Amino acid sequence: MEQIQQLKTFESTSLASLVKVQNERELEEWRVVALGKKSLLTSVMKSLADLTPDQKKEVGEAANNTKNVLNEAFSRASANFTVTAVLNSDSLDITLPGRTPSLGKKHIISNIIEECCEIFRDMGFTIAEGNEVETPYYNFDALNIAPDHPARDTMDTFWLEDKDKNGRTRLLRTHTSPMQVRFMEKNQPPIRIIVPGKVYRYEATDATHLSMFHQIEGLAVGENITMADLKGVLINFLKRLFGEDRKTRFRVDYFPFVEPGAEIAIDCSACRGKGCSICKGTGWVEVLGAGMVHPQVLTNGGIDNKKFSGFAFGVGIERIAMLRYGIEDIRNFYNNDLRFLGQF
Ligand code: PHE
Repeated sequence: MEQIQQLKTFESTSLASLVKVQNERELEEWRVVALGKKSLLTSVMKSLADLTPDQKKEVGEAANNTKNVLNEAFSRASANFTVTAVLNSDSLDITLPGRTPSLGKKHIISNIIEECCEIFRDMGFTIAEGNEVETPYYNFDALNIAPDHPARDTMDTFWLEDKDKNGRTRLLRTHTSPMQVRFMEKNQPPIRIIVPGKVYRYEATDATHLSMFHQIEGLAVGENITMADLKGVLINFLKRLFGEDRKTRFRVDYFPFVEPGAEIAIDCSACRGKGCSICKGTGWVEVLGAGMVHPQVLTNGGIDNKKFSGFAFGVGIERIAMLRYGIEDIRNFYNNDLRFLGQF
């Protein structure tokens, strides 16, 4: 059939001329001739109406075929020109190195917590986590801090306005110690746990104080646990954290929930004990509060204080990080300045 032959010739000459097309303008001219309103293809399509049904079917198919072939060839050529145009333009220099996406990383405080947990895990402690919202009973009373006890003043408290479902007043824990009694209530000795977490104090913020910071609580209860165990565990902890050559100092201190209580310091890393502004001239920096669990606290936890004894300690994490890296302002940890945080 004449039209079919025409279409075939038209298709091959069009494809041949497309190869010679050099730029986008020439491509547009090619499109008008090959696929436009006045092209041979369009006129064959228009003439279909005058054909017999059989012819219509045959020529129609051939015309559609040619149309598809030419359309596809056009799309391919046009995509090529677009890529070439972008590559040739001044705005894109493909020889430049790519931009590295900036990845987030773990916060330095999370890293220190993990490191401390690892050290205690090696000594047989497991991790227990408490709630940040506590009742005054676990935060104070169960730890021998009665409502009129002066120790309540040293831990200014954020009180919550709403009560819990039993009508009890609640607060944001001022230390991780409430977990001591909570854990003892549910577990009998031997107990060896650490409790990492956030604590809150209603205090003015300055270079060494924040209203939110992190502590790790430690508690060990069992038969024949003595002060020597407490010293052994804490000296090992501090040496692994700060270095074998560091000196530690244990002094008597007072916390209502331990008896006797101790305050533990290490020799100042800045001056190595000579005395400087960081250690306020003393050569020592306090890092821990600790002591033997008070018999009444064991009783409050449902543990027989004739049979068992224990020790407890509390570490301030931000303080550890400040000493380790010589950071002078605690607020740096939470200002979200990536120039600071990116260093660790
Ligand atoms: N909870 C005390 C504080 O926050 C630290 C501490 C814990 C002291 C356990 C003794 C024993 O200051």
